[in-house]
This record gives sequence, C-alpha cells and structure tokens, in this order.
Amino acid sequence: MARRKLILDVDTGTDDAVAIMLAALHPALDLVGCTTVNGNVEVQYCTDNTLRVLDHVGRKDIPVYEGLARPLVRPDFPIPRAVSDLAGQIHGRTLGVPASTRRKADVGAVEFLVETYRNATDEITLVPVAPLTNIATALTLYPKLVDRVPEIVIMGGGHEIGNVTPSAEFNIWGDPEAAAVVFAAKFRKMTLVPLDATHRALVSYGDCEKLRALGTPASGAAADFIGHRIHVHDEIQRMAIAGTTPVHDAVCVGYLVDPKIITTRRHHVAVETGGTLTVGRTVIDTHFRGGQEPQCDVAFDADAGRFIALLLETFKKRA
Ligand code: RIB
Ligand code: CA
Repeated sequence: MARRKLILDVDTGTDDAVAIMLAALHPALDLVGCTTVNGNVEVQYCTDNTLRVLDHVGRKDIPVYEGLARPLVRPDFPIPRAVSDLAGQIHGRTLGVPASTRRKADVGAVEFLVETYRNATDEITLVPVAPLTNIATALTLYPKLVDRVPEIVIMGGGHEIGNVTPSAEFNIWGDPEAAAVVFAAKFRKMTLVPLDATHRALVSYGDCEKLRALGTPASGAAADFIGHRIHVHDEIQRMAIAGTTPVHDAVCVGYLVDPKIITTRRHHVAVETGGTLTVGRTVIDTHFRGGQEPQCDVAFDADAGRFIALLLETFKKRA
C-alpha cells in the first residue's frame, strides 16, 4: 500500500520532535520534508533541533527548510517574558540529542511549500503544528495552494482551554493574522486538533518508562522529551491527571495513521485578531450561531490508549 506523503511545518520544540520522529519512522507515512518557523524558539533553533531529531533517528535523507523568523503583524515576538518562561521551560533552546552533521536546505520554507505543491503529482498532506506564518505567506504567494493540498491538519486553538492566555492557544496566538488567513482559505479538507483533544491524549511517566525500555534512539529521545514535559507541566501548568503531559503535535501525526485517535465534529472556525483579552482565540461555532458554512473538522476528544500504543509500536523500530 502506498505510503501517505506529508510535510510537517514545525517550531521544534519537544512535542514537535515526537511528531517528527513518528512521521519519519511510521511505515505508512512518507515525510517529504520539514519546514520550520518562529514559535517555541527562534527559527534558527527550530531548524537546528529539527535537523538533530531527524539525524538522531537515522533519517538524514529528509530535508529541512527554514521559514519565517517573525509573525506577519504582531510586533512583540520573541514572546513576552511571562510566556517565554513556559515555552522556554517546556522546550528549551536546544534539544538534548546530538548536533546534526548536515545543513538546512538552501531553499526557504515558503518557496519549498509553493514549488512543491505547484509541481506535485502525488497528494501531500500538510501538517502545520506551529504558528501559521509560513502557511499564510505561501497562500498569499500561491492562492491555488488550497486546491493542491488534499488535507491540512492543524495543531492549534482551543474551545474550552487556552494555554498561553485564558482565551488562546500558543500556535494561533503566536501569529493571529496568519491563522485568520489560513482558516479563511477554502482548503479542500481542514482538520483542527485543538487543546480540547490533545489534553485528552495525556502521556505519563509510566508510558515514558515503557518507551525507554524499547531501547531505540527514538524511544529514548521520546522518553526524555515527554518526561521533561511532564516535569514542567506538573510545576507550572498541571494537567487533569498529575504526572502526565499532552504531546500536542504528535496527535496530529497519529491521526494520519489511526483516524480513531481523535473524534471530530464539523464547525465553522475563525480567529480573533483584535481584542485585548481574546486575541488569538479560535472562535469555534459549536452551536451554528454565525450562519457561516462549517469548514473544519474539529477534534474535541482523543483516545490516549490508541495514541500511546502507536508511539510504542512505532518507536520500537529503528530506521
Ligand atoms: O499549544 C501547543 C503548541 O504550541 C504545540 O505545537 C507546541 O509545540 C507549541 O508550538
Ligand atoms: Ca509545535
């Protein structure tokens, strides 16, 4: 059976790293390339971390394209101190895997996205798990992108939950104008995996021990990254179950190979770009009040058992 092609747009980051390893090692997936963008850390560190992670799991063949270094409009990136403490602590600047022995691609992320989709003969799923700056810019340069992408699977947003403010989730808040452009575009199929879902696919220290026992480069790195996330979340943003963490971005990749990992409902989604208290909020019209055609399959639940089983099954293998 043909492997499903995908491009991951990342701000690597500990959960991005798990998503990258899952996409690079799962036999049903073909990770065409990774594009990086300013988010958890400055873009050059995202690029370096992405190269480190791919090399660490034996996938030096997967290219990394560096993207935009700042949001489209908002002036205050890198993020204000108060928030950078959370992002900084959960991700850090440089991930704890060896330095890469290769360079990023010479072509920039936006050019790669535009030219790849302009010339694609196969279907390539687009999976942004970071602020949507690269995606919005590619759309502006190449509006036909919406017809060329068979499905866009976005990690971001929240209906009942915010993580960077009471109203907003980090990826959308990090570049609200870019997110507004992306959600207003008419992609053929749009799937959103917000915090409402990722906070239900919680991974524990016990799961990290099972990962570590597998004894592979990917399983050890995943145990390290996830264990660190649990420690920080317990300290500054405790989950419903103490001693656990969401691994947001990896849930999007998991959905590609096991759609039952998430449960979705179709709604219209828009993004607040004004509002002192609400900037960056995903406005999910759960009761069809806005009269606008729903354009997005929104995940409101996730199956932690299926998700963790997929991580264990995939990471026991080497490339
Ligand atoms: O809010 C979670 C998202 O923000 C994840 O993609 C994480 O990597 C950060 O980018
Ligand atoms: Ca991310």
